[in-house]
This record gives sequence, structure tokens and C-alpha cells, in this order.
Amino acid sequence: MIKTIETKELKVGMYVKISDSWLKHPFIKNEFVITNENQIKQIIENGIKSVFIDTDKGILTIKNIENISHSDKDLTPPDTWQPDKLMPDDLKEAIEDTSMPKREKAKRIYNSSLQMMGKLFESPTAENIKTSKDVIANLVDMILREPETSGYLLNITSHDFYTYTHSVNVGILSIMVSKEIFKNSDSHNMHEVGAGFFLHDIGKTKVTPEIINKPGRLTDEEMFNMRTHPYQGYKILKEAGQLSEECKIIVMQHHEREDGTGYPRRLKKDEIHPYGRIGCISDVFDAITAERSYKQAMSPFEALKLMKEQMLHHFQEEIFSKFVLIFSK
Ligand SMILES: [Fe+2]
Ligand SMILES: [Fe+2]
Repeated sequence: MIKTIETKELKVGMYVKISDSWLKHPFIKNEFVITNENQIKQIIENGIKSVFIDTDKGILTIKNIENISHSDKDLTPPDTWQPDKLMPDDLKEAIEDTSMPKREKAKRIYNSSLQMMGKLFESPTAENIKTSKDVIANLVDMILREPETSGYLLNITSHDFYTYTHSVNVGILSIMVSKEIFKNSDSHNMHEVGAGFFLHDIGKTKVTPEIINKPGRLTDEEMFNMRTHPYQGYKILKEAGQLSEECKIIVMQHHEREDGTGYPRRLKKDEIHPYGRIGCISDVFDAITAERSYKQAMSPFEALKLMKEQMLHHFQEEIFSKFVLIFSK
């Protein structure tokens, strides 16, 4: 049974559903079991006045919910309680559901992908990388077969400053562009290509958060540090046994620029693989359209205009025109 309660009535053990957008509170999920007092404090501090609780789930179920005020000391988790999983059940269900309205489907897939990437960035273990690659493979198949859902996905990409939001956006955009470019060829392993795009910045988990989140310009030393992330990503995937050729190219080349001004190897033109060129365009586009504490977000139209008028020397023109095309569909 779903009940509405005021947040000040929350207790450890309750299964809570927060109706506010997932992006407006600090939790990785919109619904979860409250496991400590600190989570209740955070909910209240984020200005959330009331929440839903599911009295059939959680450690406090309908049977003991009446007595919560004096019985919450010796609670033991029920057998059904599982610690948070990397892959939200919702994501797999939404990907496979063919009857769900497409807009709803896109929303669910997007939010669940963010959760998954958020957890992966918190803990980029070999096991988590492997699991996320399996999920990304399903996601790639869905994007390739359902243009309508993909269109909605493109519309709902959110633009806050988290690395994992950026990773999901670059993943979605790049898979859609790749579909456009490679549609008449079956010599591409789209699962690995998709994994490369989603995981392109995994190396940022090795760069200190102060540098990643620093508003404004980085010092030379900070910049040097930041620019190690392609190689760090390469190392993480290699050590996890998940470094396919596609992932290697994308992780290492997404900051190379057509005119040789990129990093880490200052590659030029055809020295950069098409996967690297696609990653570069999506990466720049998402960075420009992202809202940061020190700058306003630019609309997709303004971003494409700026890229065309002032940055075209960084991109391969034909790929850039395909990129523009996905927004006009
Ligand atoms: Fe990057
Ligand atoms: Fe990036």
C-alpha cells in the first residue's frame, strides 16, 4: 500500500518514494529503503515536505509500521531486501517493454541509465564495468531499433554538471550518429562502440573531484592532470579485461581534434578514427549545452550554430553534418 507521510515522520527502514525529480535531491534513486538517520536529514534539508512510502516493501512493512515509534531499535532486514544494484530493475524492464508509451519509456531509460552510471563512477570495479557493458549493449539495440524512443531520449537529456550525466548524453548522441553513419555497414560491433561512448570519461574517476568540478579556468598543473583521463580510462578498462579495440579508440581519441590541437597525441585528420571523431563532436556539444555553476546552458540550436561558425576546424565536416542531422529528425 502506498501512503503519503510528512518527511518528519520518516523512520529508518521505510521504503520511500520521492516524487520530486531525481535530479533535485542527492540520492541515486527516487525510491529506496531508508537505512540511516542521515538520509532522513538530507531529505528534509532538501526542502521535501512529504513523500510516499510503500508499506509492503522496506524493512518496516505494514505489520510493524503502526509500532514504529517504539520498535525501530531491533529491526533486521527481511530476506527480500537487497543492497542497491548497479543495474536498476526498471532499466531492463523499460528497455524490453514494447507496449510502454515511448515518451515514458525514454524517461525511465534515461533516469535509470543515470543511476547506473552514477554508481559506476562511484565504484568502477571490473565487475561493475562488465555489468554496465551488458546493460549498454541492450540500450544500443533499443536505440538502433526504436527511432521514436531515441528521439525522446535526445529531447530529455539533462544538462547538469555531473560526469555521469555527460557520459549518458554522449553515449546516446554518439550511438545515434553512429547509426546514421554506419547504417549500411555491418562491420561495426555496435555494442562495443556504444560501450566506448558511454565509458569514454571513466578515467575521470582517477582525477581529483576538485579539478573536475572546478568552476572556471584550470591552472597548467590542473590541466595536465585533467588531460591524463583518456589514458587513465584506457588503464581502467584494460585492467578490468574490458578494453575492446572500439573502447580503446574512443577512450583515447575523444579529445583529439581534426586540426591537431587536441590531446593526448595531437592526432590530425585521418589519424583520428571515425569513432574518435564522433566522440569528439558529441563531447563538445554536450559540454556547450551543459549548465555549469559559472555559465548558462546554451540551447542545442545555439550550440550547433557556434560549433559550425567558430569550431568547425576541430571536427570532420561530414561527420558534423550527420550530427546536425540527428536533431532535424
Ligand atoms: Fe573526456
Ligand atoms: Fe567527455
